[in-house]
Amino acid sequence: MALIVPSILSADFTRLGEQVHAVADAGADRIQVDVMDGHFVPTISIGALGVDAVRRSTTLPIEAHLMITDPARYVDDFLRAGANVVIFHREVLDDPRALISYLHQQGAKTGLAISPETDVALVEPFLDMVDLILVMTVHPGFGGQEFMAECLPKVSHIRAMLTSRGLGTDIEVDGGIHSGTAAQAVAAGANVLVAGSSVYGHPQGAAAGLRELRASIGG
Ligand code: DX5
Repeated sequence: MALIVPSILSADFTRLGEQVHAVADAGADRIQVDVMDGHFVPTISIGALGVDAVRRSTTLPIEAHLMITDPARYVDDFLRAGANVVIFHREVLDDPRALISYLHQQGAKTGLAISPETDVALVEPFLDMVDLILVMTVHPGFGGQEFMAECLPKVSHIRAMLTSRGLGTDIEVDGGIHSGTAAQAVAAGANVLVAGSSVYGHPQGAAAGLRELRASIGG
């Protein structure tokens, strides 16, 4: 069964603790914190303080999705704040090996993310080094965007490479995931689904949004 990871970018920050509890109680597998620096992406969102607030609200694993130009400079802040999984973008480093090794030495799980325009060839050499590959299904920087189905062949390509090499690396998709798109992503080979607005923007509340998403993939 695919994992479901709500992104708090769409949560109501005036009651963040409650919003985290709601999805944790409804069966979320992890919580994602979207970190944006206004440079790699056009938006400034939250930093390690956001991870710390989520950390003090739940025992669930936390992913810090770093949409920032200089991840190596800041990873210690996110690890200290309680991030268990650190995902950074392949586009910002010529060679991600040193940062991947450093994160593993610190006991963190590591993910490499690729934006829609980035080719799978850029992550292929690292499939056996990371714990997950995050395939963005929207252009990073905003919640509530439309799902880009044209990114799914990348998911299938990565899944085929992992299978042929016997690797258990996770494939995560992020952006426009809701009950009408989740099954497509899973069918393409994704086993981790990030969802923001379909969970926190659901008319009956976050728990209902999560349950609807889970039901759409047979859960
Ligand atoms: C966008 C972020 C996503 C976003 C997902 O750059 O990486 O995690 O919050 O939001 P939805 O599910 O609304 O597309």
